[in-house]
Amino acid sequence: MPQQPMSSDALPMVTLDPRLGPAAVASDPLSDDARQRVRELGAHVIARYPRSRSALMPLLYLVQAEQGYVSPDGIKLVAEMLNLTTAEVSAVSTFYTMYKRRPCGDYAVGVCTNTLCAILGGDAIFESLKEHLGVGNNGTTPDGKVTLEHIECNAACDYAPVVMVNWEFFDNQTVESAKELVDRLRAGDPPAPTRGAPLRTHMETSKVLAGFADGAVNAGPSAGPASLTGLELARERNESAPAMRQEDGR
Ligand code: FES
Repeated sequence: MPQQPMSSDALPMVTLDPRLGPAAVASDPLSDDARQRVRELGAHVIARYPRSRSALMPLLYLVQAEQGYVSPDGIKLVAEMLNLTTAEVSAVSTFYTMYKRRPCGDYAVGVCTNTLCAILGGDAIFESLKEHLGVGNNGTTPDGKVTLEHIECNAACDYAPVVMVNWEFFDNQTVESAKELVDRLRAGDPPAPTRGAPLRTHMETSKVLAGFADGAVNAGPSAGPASLTGLELARERNESAPAMRQEDGR
């Protein structure tokens, strides 16, 4: 869910407490090495676009890959690299919840509590994980392994209730399977997602999302039977989508 934009100049320094809510932010400066890596890798990203400002979101992921979150210092660096104001960069980084505003655990565990998942068990899973982990929404376990958050629909309703770990799918979860999942994450034994690539840490995933593939993009199963039911029915009935009209220009 989008957060309210906030000027980077207004971001306060706070003492981090894993039980604090989403309003808590951190403001560590980027190290010189991290700054250099963002500059070097960021230059490759910027070169992919006709307009440099189009590289804004990948660059924010690059900062997150270095710091584990997007700090005001990172916002200033991105603004400088793209010739934007810190207010413009801050507005984007605070709008999307994928960008963290304080250090995130190795695994961001997102429980879908949107309508379908919620009524099929997502609400119960989220409540049980809060109790099991001893954290609230956006809270991180003291070992730094898991950050728990509730998330909106991830277009996987055919596998409800869904839990995402660093944006990989764990389908058809139950209270018990979700508890076992977080226990294994905390024990350093991450299970394979139901679909998609093997789990990486949150910082490693941020670098992939910045556009630097790790060689596992096509690993693991993709669409499962439930998602393909409509396609199979269409094939059985010899149905297909209408052809594009020429005047659409696509
Ligand atoms: S409602 Fe949970 S994935 Fe759509």
